[in-house]
Amino acid sequence: MEKLITFLFLAFSFVVSSNGNSLAPAAYFFGDSGMDTGNNNYVKTIANVSRWPSGVDLNNQTGRFCNGKTIADFIAINLGLPMAPAYLSLNELARSKTTTGINYASGSCGILSTTGETGCLTLQKQIEYFTSTLKQDLPKAIKCEEELRRYVSKSIFVLIIGANDMNPMVSRTLVELNEKLNPGSPKLKLGMPIPLIVVEKMGVLLLEQLTQHIKTLYELGARKFLVSDYYGGVALQERVKPFSDAKFTYFETNALTKEVTEHPAKYGFKNIKDPCYNETQHLLCPNRKEYMKWDMAHTTEAANEIAGKDCFNDAYGGHACKPLTLEELAKAP
Ligand SMILES: *[C@@H]1O[C@H](CO)[C@@H](O)[C@H](O)[C@H]1NC(C)=O
Ligand SMILES: *[C@@H]1O[C@H](CO)[C@@H](O)[C@H](O)[C@H]1NC(C)=O
Ligand SMILES: *[C@@H]1O[C@H](CO)[C@@H](O)[C@H](O)[C@H]1NC(C)=O
Repeated sequence: MEKLITFLFLAFSFVVSSNGNSLAPAAYFFGDSGMDTGNNNYVKTIANVSRWPSGVDLNNQTGRFCNGKTIADFIAINLGLPMAPAYLSLNELARSKTTTGINYASGSCGILSTTGETGCLTLQKQIEYFTSTLKQDLPKAIKCEEELRRYVSKSIFVLIIGANDMNPMVSRTLVELNEKLNPGSPKLKLGMPIPLIVVEKMGVLLLEQLTQHIKTLYELGARKFLVSDYYGGVALQERVKPFSDAKFTYFETNALTKEVTEHPAKYGFKNIKDPCYNETQHLLCPNRKEYMKWDMAHTTEAANEIAGKDCFNDAYGGHACKPLTLEELAKAP
């Protein structure tokens, strides 16, 4: 009996301390294939990785566009939280018990609802699912309304999305805008330079839409945002000024990628050019830790870990998250 009590006490204190050690109560993720931790396994879409070698270094758990953990996973881990499960992987009971964060991201989708392969979760849909989490599920675990409000305001909201909106293979609006602004020009294809006027018009449209989605989350009580900086953090900073009691930091890895590319050995990489996974040959590289690229469009777990640490506390001087590091964002009042 005494042993049992000791065990229960230890188990209980572990639960308490593991919650106490995280820097935020939860992290909620919105995005594309860089963030997706398995949602596309549960929808009908060709943009799925529900087969080997997805997750080959994560007990063969498929659904990530990577050999192992994504940046979303490392953001959660660095905050001291469990990796956020894919929303669509949770049943109703699991949804009502998950209070440390959920991942709504979906490979091939973008900021615009017109972007993506059929079936992927648009950003609008992802935010609708979060709204359902907040209204239907979280109140079952966090019964006091005031506590729930505080919990949402302290949680980290990660939106790393927008690359696909500039990809002519999945962005219908990009292709249409090019046809409209450059009538008679060849149809935009991957790898072709996008005319500046189209880039500029798309940029404005994407910033507008992203701001609308951030506004929805803000109105639901979110106050701490980590947002990708594809279309100008400065421009987005202007647009989010009305949400003056919210904190924003921006994710951008150009400087970090340059640093890693110039000094690969320092980061344990032997190959920064070729993808580890050759999709046409269906072959894997022998040592996945030595590669920066996973496939033609995604980075390896090893590279994601570096980006995650740099975002967390500028570990490699690459300023992946600025002006605030993730740690500063989480610790901010
Ligand atoms: C997953 O993708 C493959 C092609 O890559 C496709 O043949 C298959 O139908 C997709 N699965 C679902 C459930 O959509
Ligand atoms: C993962 O799947 C591959 C291919 O089916 C298999 O060879 C390997 O042993 C599996 N690894 C684990 C850890 O189950
Ligand atoms: C995949 O392997 C084939 C045969 O070795 C090679 O020709 C091709 O360039 C490789 N693809 C990539 C993306 O590295």
